[in-house]
Amino acid sequence: MKLREFGKTGVHVSEVGFGGWAIGGSWGAQAESDSVAALQRALDLGVTFVDTAAGYGNGRSEKTIARVLDGRWGRESVIVATKTPPAPGAWPPSPHCKADERYSETYLRNNVEERCRMLGTSCIDLLQLHTWTRAWNRDPRPLATLRKLQSEGLIRWVGVSTPEHDQNCVIDLIRGGWVDAVQLIYNLFEQEPAAELLDVAKEHGVAVIVRVPFDEGVLTGKFTEATTFPEGDFRRNYFAGDRLARAIRRVEAIREDLRASDYTLPQVALKFILAHPAVSVVIPGMRNAMQAALNCSVSDLGDLSPELLVRLRRHNWRRAFWYMGK
Ligand SMILES: NC(=O)c1ccc[n+]([C@@H]2O[C@H](COP(=O)([O-])OP(=O)(O)OC[C@H]3O[C@@H](n4cnc5c(N)ncnc54)[C@H](OP(=O)(O)O)[C@@H]3O)[C@@H](O)[C@H]2O)c1
Repeated sequence: MKLREFGKTGVHVSEVGFGGWAIGGSWGAQAESDSVAALQRALDLGVTFVDTAAGYGNGRSEKTIARVLDGRWGRESVIVATKTPPAPGAWPPSPHCKADERYSETYLRNNVEERCRMLGTSCIDLLQLHTWTRAWNRDPRPLATLRKLQSEGLIRWVGVSTPEHDQNCVIDLIRGGWVDAVQLIYNLFEQEPAAELLDVAKEHGVAVIVRVPFDEGVLTGKFTEATTFPEGDFRRNYFAGDRLARAIRRVEAIREDLRASDYTLPQVALKFILAHPAVSVVIPGMRNAMQAALNCSVSDLGDLSPELLVRLRRHNWRRAFWYMGK
């Protein structure tokens, strides 16, 4: 497992990290034994960065992670990133939401203390606001609050996770020195961060955590048009209507580009992300030990050729671009 600098923190983390959403909930049935086995295998294979959130099963993911780490690892060897959601309201926050109503100082302090309890620690390695709107960029008071909690020793580093529709909204926060890390979507379909965001993060020494590398699974190439998702799996909505079929058609076009290479689709999905020098860590979701082994092994594979990387750029998909058809 290769390591990468985590921004300006002075810490290095494994370039493949552990995405901890599905082990918490919202992905259909998930056996606790599978979750524990997935994380243990990932740690055995060199993973030193784990991402979770308050919202992943209302603390279930955090508690599972805390249990596994306490049994086998010292806090210093594995970085755990968690997230505080905004107080109830629109998701993502609308341009008219008030930062003080969604992330007030009292709310943030109470929530961070709760995160500490869930994770069994007195200091959170990386506390990320779970979502954001650029409406708050000119007066990012919630981040000033987090800097205060950082100075009190409750948080080691401050981060923001982007809203699904607007990766670029964190660029001003990076330039303003408000964050130590950003978490964003960058994958074979969503390549917009390569326009500016990734370079700005690199220039400012802000760590980049890349989430959703498989576009919630479809970029592993394992879905067919007959695939259905069980009750309680958020992908029933995510891939509702004709979305799964449209995504699969595009995945098949990527597969065509891989004919002459030795990589599988999941391998290419991860390697494409890791090819960008601004990326600190990619965090695929892992639900069992097999997925952990497959995803961690990608770090040791050779890099994608420059020719293949250029070909893969053609798969950038602006899904909300109606001029090209819905
Ligand atoms: N707003 C936010 O801040 C936010 C939002 C989303 C995610 N995240 C973070 O980013 C992480 C990654 O995103 P994600 O989990 O949503 O999606 P993802 O990484 O794109 O997809 C993960 C899913 O793909 C399947 N999978 C994983 N490895 C595989 C492999 N090698 N072969 C075949 N299938 C495989 C698993 O589901 P199945 O086995 O069920 O197919 C797994 O749950 C999350 O876990 C979370 O930590 C953050």
